[in-house]
Amino acid sequence: MKDEKLIEEAKKARDLAYAPYSKFKVGAALLTKDGKVYKGANVENSSYGLSMCAERVALFCAVSSGEKDFSKIAIVADSEQPITPCGACRQTLLEFNGNLEIICATTKGKIKKYRLKELLPEPFKLNR
Ligand code: THU
Repeated sequence: MKDEKLIEEAKKARDLAYAPYSKFKVGAALLTKDGKVYKGANVENSSYGLSMCAERVALFCAVSSGEKDFSKIAIVADSEQPITPCGACRQTLLEFNGNLEIICATTKGKIKKYRLKELLPEPFKLNR
């Protein structure tokens, strides 16, 4: 799937964000290696710390639907510059693919691309 189409899916997801506190809506669209798309939006709570990022909503939806192989994620926010995933989302995504392509876009069409491992070069690894 082309990046532009995945960004469109993330925009659609963003429309469903629940962000009455920050007013900062984020959408994410995670692409599996066999071409399926799982979407997520941020979901906030009046107990602010319980809020969840769009990226992890998409990831947990995909994994709990039986998916583990991902190729790209698109993230969209209405920001001046494209936003990158927070540290917690980087760590949770990296569990599945350090080479994941991260496509960060604004609603107005600015785009930046990364590989996950460049955004999180020294992830936590359980070694015991
Ligand atoms: N947020 C995301 O959904 N993804 C990110 O990558 C960064 C931040 C959300 C969390 C919160 O609901 C709002 O954006 C403001 O921080």
